[in-house]
Amino acid sequence: MMASGMPVFLLLLWTTNTPQGAGVQVLPPVNFTLTVSALAQVLLHWEPNPAQEQNNSTIRYDVKILSPEPEEYDTSRTHSVRTVALHNGFSARVRTLLLQGHLQMSSDWVEANLPPLPGAAETSVTNLSCVTHVTIPGNVSLRCTWLPGRGAPEDTKYFLFYRYEMHTEECPAYTKDRWSRNTECRFSSTQIEPGEIDNLIVIHINGSSKRAAIKPFQQLFNQNAIEKVNIPRNISISLEQSDLLAVWEKPISPFHEECFEYQFCLINLKSGNKQTLRISSRSFRLRVDVSSRYSIRIRAKHTPVCRAPGLWSDWSQILYVGQNKPESSTAWILTLLCVSTSCTLLLVAIICQINHVWSKLFPPIPMPSNKFREPFPIDYERARTCPSSTETEVVSLAEGFSCSVLDDSVF
Ligand SMILES: *[C@@H]1O[C@H](CO)[C@@H](O)[C@H](O)[C@H]1NC(C)=O
Ligand SMILES: *[C@@H]1O[C@H](CO)[C@@H](O)[C@H](O)[C@H]1NC(C)=O
Ligand SMILES: *[C@@H]1O[C@H](CO)[C@@H](O)[C@H](O)[C@H]1NC(C)=O
Repeated sequence: MMASGMPVFLLLLWTTNTPQGAGVQVLPPVNFTLTVSALAQVLLHWEPNPAQEQNNSTIRYDVKILSPEPEEYDTSRTHSVRTVALHNGFSARVRTLLLQGHLQMSSDWVEANLPPLPGAAETSVTNLSCVTHVTIPGNVSLRCTWLPGRGAPEDTKYFLFYRYEMHTEECPAYTKDRWSRNTECRFSSTQIEPGEIDNLIVIHINGSSKRAAIKPFQQLFNQNAIEKVNIPRNISISLEQSDLLAVWEKPISPFHEECFEYQFCLINLKSGNKQTLRISSRSFRLRVDVSSRYSIRIRAKHTPVCRAPGLWSDWSQILYVGQNKPESSTAWILTLLCVSTSCTLLLVAIICQINHVWSKLFPPIPMPSNKFREPFPIDYERARTCPSSTETEVVSLAEGFSCSVLDDSVF
């Protein structure tokens, strides 16, 4: 498609207009015409000026496209094909270049235009977006969506056509909005070649209405840039000691394994932590907390190394791995608290047991209950007996504490 383009720096050398250089007159080409040769395709054609003298010089043509997208190139041929959206018209210029030794001379420009495609303002579709998808190997589906123009009457009926190389086809299945205007189209199979790189897909949407002329709309899409990759296949996830191991296969695609990258989304279902990782291989190992359950999803995309990156695939189904076990930090603290409490109780019990034995061996001298006893013997006795009172426990706790202080100071 891209016609004989030469680097722009050559053009820069020729831009000075020297029509009378070396006494040779340079005449512009004649019969410059523009013809629409397919959807969004224009043929530029001209003839050499019959009056042009050539004596030992080379003739080339300088082409300048003014709209819709400015572009400049030169060619030795007398025709050129451009693929470009034509709904807003097209205009271009061409001139003769004469190369004689080191001299470059150029003629005046001749210009031609294609008018915009007819229709009322704002009746064209807007927000057109298209996605392709390799279904089974070798087959590409195409889906496009759009919004009706703001000026499109309610009875507007839109028609979508796609062109790929020389094949043009109308949409077989539309989805309608609530006024039954078509706003989506699906081709379950197309002539789009799945393995091609940077080919263009032309979309043309025109329409009809009883109340207004619907202006057609055209847009070109790079085949690779709108391809939505398939989901990675045969994903298998396992835990190996404290590593999570994931292995999968590349999506159905004519492209090699090196042409894919993956996104891996890992959610720790216990903590809620989410990790998203980009991976360029088909397998992957990650250290995880084995006491947690994880959910995993993977999606794929082409790498820019191989082609225009395109769109992410859908996410794979969610896979789960691992079991939640109560080993989080709070559980640890609770366990520690339990253990220390029971130790203390055990210590109390032991101390009480010793005191009990001791008081059995040396029973205290019974004393008459006397409300006016001196304070010291009571305290002495309390410390030696072990009734089920909280006071003893407090004392024992204090003892335990002083013991542990001692232990700490020893070691
Ligand atoms: C240019 O077009 C005219 C009219 O169609 C034709 O008579 C003439 O021969 C053409 N000139 C050349 C150089 O082809
Ligand atoms: C349509 O496209 C316009 C301009 O690109 C954007 O501002 C608008 O949000 C889009 N509308 C919808 C519904 O996507
Ligand atoms: C829409 O475009 C197609 C392809 O160019 C053409 O065949 C058809 O007649 C057009 N329809 C309308 C309503 O303009």
